[in-house]
Amino acid sequence: MLSAFMALTSSAFTQDLPDADNGKKLFEANCLGCHAIDKKEIGPALRGIHLRRTPEWLVQWIRNNEKFRKVTKDPDAIALYNEYNGAAMNVFENLTPVNVQEIVEYIKTAPEAPKTAVVIDAGDGTKKEDNTNLYILLTLVAILSIVLLILARVKNTLRRIAAEKNPEEYAEWLAPKKGFFEKSLPGKWGKLNPTVLTLFAIVIVSVPALYYGFEFSITEVAVQKGYAPKQPIAFSHQLHAGQLKMNCQYCHSSVEKSKQASIPALNTCMNCHKGVQLTEKYNGEISPEIKKIYTALDYNPEGKEGEQYGKNPRPVRWIRIHNLPDHAYFNHSQHVKVGKQSCQTCHGAIEKMEVVQQVNTLQMGWCIDCHRVSQVDVANNNYYKALHDKAKADIAKNNQSSKYFSADGTVKLTAAMNGGLECSKCHY
Ligand code: HEC
Ligand code: HEC
Ligand code: HEC
Ligand code: HEC
Ligand code: HEC
Ligand code: HEC
Repeated sequence: MLSAFMALTSSAFTQDLPDADNGKKLFEANCLGCHAIDKKEIGPALRGIHLRRTPEWLVQWIRNNEKFRKVTKDPDAIALYNEYNGAAMNVFENLTPVNVQEIVEYIKTAPEAPKTAVVIDAGDGTKKEDNTNLYILLTLVAILSIVLLILARVKNTLRRIAAEKNPEEYAEWLAPKKGFFEKSLPGKWGKLNPTVLTLFAIVIVSVPALYYGFEFSITEVAVQKGYAPKQPIAFSHQLHAGQLKMNCQYCHSSVEKSKQASIPALNTCMNCHKGVQLTEKYNGEISPEIKKIYTALDYNPEGKEGEQYGKNPRPVRWIRIHNLPDHAYFNHSQHVKVGKQSCQTCHGAIEKMEVVQQVNTLQMGWCIDCHRVSQVDVANNNYYKALHDKAKADIAKNNQSSKYFSADGTVKLTAAMNGGLECSKCHY
């Protein structure tokens, strides 16, 4: 009895700071799906939230933003909701006011994410630094040095004009004096024409900067091997295509029929995720990742049958990974259905990837190399019936020798022989 009373009083009356460690856990379990501390995700970045809002406001908003807007009609809450076009944040009535303080304390004290260069996975498991910022900096430094050099020369010229008009005042300055290059370069070098030397210095400074700047521009634009962006929903191929053994076509349903493989609509996910909510894993709550599917479809799992879908769906913007430049033409059905190529030949072991990563360069040389070696199975392929008939006639006529077939009947026809190296097949 006494100890219970002690515990109560000590927590209620001491000035202990809210427990930031518990706040971190609660944040990661409940909020991380939509919020980051320093970056806008589905919801705003939360750094400095304790400065923007009062503690009471935060408790009300975080525990039940819906009630706060609709019943309390708090103007800031309504404005915020409108600013995010009605993207609804979940209700968290399971969190106590103390929990909310703990989360806010965590946000207050969370270390800033290091601002180093972005790290791109190079595909072979090693991490490669993206030096973009460095290149931009080098280029800026070069431009700045050039501007400074020019300004210095302009200033000198102006002074000389002034000195010629008023020789007394500038007597000291006019006296023969060693120039910058004469002072800093040894012997004969310093006596060369300063303009030539200045130009030379500019070239030395700017060549590497331009080089890196250029390299930066082409590598950024080109399709990138190793590109593996974080997607808005943590969808895992390793789980769905690997462990659950789902067929790729279940989701990429047009891959055999059209140019595009296509990304599935979220309704495809709902075939299972209406039911699969993983509440066991999240202490009775629906998985925050699954909630994102619901939010995007404006689906309310607690709604009445027939009234679960609202009127404000907001499609998820998956980040496109494989992307050829516009001037190149690639067709999935041609490769998958006609050419009988497996997804993995081009995309790697997708069924083992937690996050999809581009494993091939997708450059012209890559396409052509494969066309040179890929044999086309014309004999058992309706698409090639005409060609096959022609080759059969050819082989009969030419006494069992054909450029398409060996005498024993094995096919020698490669994609390259069938037009796979013609510019117009791949370029508009
Ligand atoms: C389903 C996505 C989602 C989840 C989960 C979520 N939020 Fe939000 N949050 C939002 C959105 C979107 C907004 C912007 C306002 C709006 O549209 O309702 C927001 C706004 C806020 C704001 C107000 C920010 C400001 O600048 O005033 C705070 C504070 C906040 N969220 C805290 C939390 C905390 C703490 C959690 C976890 C307990 C959490 N949110 C979980 C989506 C989410
Ligand atoms: C349950 C549905 C589902 C299944 C099954 C599935 N995928 Fe996907 N796939 C997606 C979704 C959603 C995306 C977009 C998000 C992402 O990149 O993870 C995607 C993205 C991709 C991408 C990258 C697209 C881009 O932007 O370039 C490739 C490649 C891909 N899938 C191949 C496969 C292959 C190969 C299989 C079979 C081994 C497969 N997928 C099975 C749903 C699925
Ligand atoms: C054929 C059924 C099926 C389909 C279709 C399906 N999923 Fe799943 N998904 C599952 C199952 C089952 C699990 C849970 C596995 C487990 O128990 O961990 C799961 C887990 C997930 C998780 C992990 C959630 C968490 O918090 O751990 C995400 C995210 C997810 N699915 C997203 C998607 C998306 C997005 C789509 C549509 C592109 C999709 N799923 C389509 C069956 C499916
Ligand atoms: C011969 C190589 C090759 C094969 C085989 C292949 N892909 Fe692709 N895939 C590509 C290329 C190249 C792109 C980029 C296309 C573009 O940007 O136009 C791509 C893009 C994609 C995309 C992105 C979205 C889209 O619709 O283009 C998905 C998803 C995809 N592939 C899934 C698959 C699946 C699933 C299979 C197997 C059934 C498969 N791919 C087989 C080369 C291939
Ligand atoms: C098998 C398909 C294929 C064939 C055949 C092909 N190309 Fe390409 N080409 C591509 C692809 C894919 C790209 C884009 C990726 C890249 O930049 O390498 C490309 C890019 C290019 C580029 C731009 C290079 C760059 O760095 O931006 C030029 C120019 C080009 N091709 C010219 C040609 C010419 C000329 C031919 C005929 C001799 C030809 N291509 C045949 C697939 C092909
Ligand atoms: C893994 C091997 C492989 C890769 C990689 C590959 N292809 Fe192919 N490609 C084939 C095969 C096999 C065929 C089927 C032969 C045919 O239809 O004549 C084919 C056929 C084609 C055709 C039709 C040629 C015709 O005669 O109608 C085009 C166009 C084409 N590929 C473009 C591309 C482009 C663009 C890329 C690179 C982005 C690429 N391919 C990468 C194997 C590949």
